[in-house]
Amino acid sequence: MSNPSSFNAKEHQNMLRSYFNGNGFNRWSSIYGNEKLSTVRTTVRQGHAVMMDKAFEWLQQLNLPEDATILDAGCGTGLFSVRLAGNGYHVKAVDIAAQMVNKSREEATAKGLQEKIDFEVNTIEEVKGMYDAVVCFDVLIHYPAEGFMEAFKNLSNLTKGPIIFTYAPYNKILALQHWIGGFFPKKERRTTIQMITDENMNKAMEKNRMFVKSRQKISFGFYHTMLMHAERK
Ligand SMILES: C[S@@+](CC[C@H](N)C(=O)[O-])C[C@H]1O[C@@H](n2cnc3c(N)ncnc32)[C@H](O)[C@@H]1O
Repeated sequence: MSNPSSFNAKEHQNMLRSYFNGNGFNRWSSIYGNEKLSTVRTTVRQGHAVMMDKAFEWLQQLNLPEDATILDAGCGTGLFSVRLAGNGYHVKAVDIAAQMVNKSREEATAKGLQEKIDFEVNTIEEVKGMYDAVVCFDVLIHYPAEGFMEAFKNLSNLTKGPIIFTYAPYNKILALQHWIGGFFPKKERRTTIQMITDENMNKAMEKNRMFVKSRQKISFGFYHTMLMHAERK
């Protein structure tokens, strides 16, 4: 329902950078924080926490080396980076939005963990390095298929180990709602959740010589996502 040829990677990045340095920062830092929220947002906070607990459990089952370095791609306010660092991992925390990286650094510093985390304002498409594992939560949900393919390609080149990530699987009803939403004036809209079809997910795995080791649907109130654990073939 979207026109694939209309996707412009740089414009999309610029839109996300400006959103997550502005309204998006306010919206998500309150969801990931401790302040009182509406019922809807409270369920998003709780669902996100369920997802992170499951992802952390999967990560611990991997028995990574003690000095393992994990890339948190699109680290947001640093919830997962700080948790990883608190559990002894070295972390590279990257986010497109300087506001998010600053907030992550603040959170790590408050817990005395800043030395264990290397922070960088960068994109998941451009970040470099080699890591024991890559995690990327609730970032790829902001990318249509073309952008998802590009971002996933880079993420898969950054590790010989696992990538644990979330995405929004294609759903006909949601797709229809997004299509209808597209007719409203731009200022009425915010970043929408972008859905990836099974076909495109399979393509991304094939192209990057990865396979899905496990997947788990996380649904809690208004929070819905698919948690994936992909490994190199
Ligand atoms: C919904 S938040 C999720 C944050 C964090 N992963 C979590 O689950 O707590 C999405 C984050 O992705 C970041 N982001 C969006 N596009 C990005 C990109 N291309 N490269 C790096 N970060 C990006 C945003 O700035 C924002 O911090």
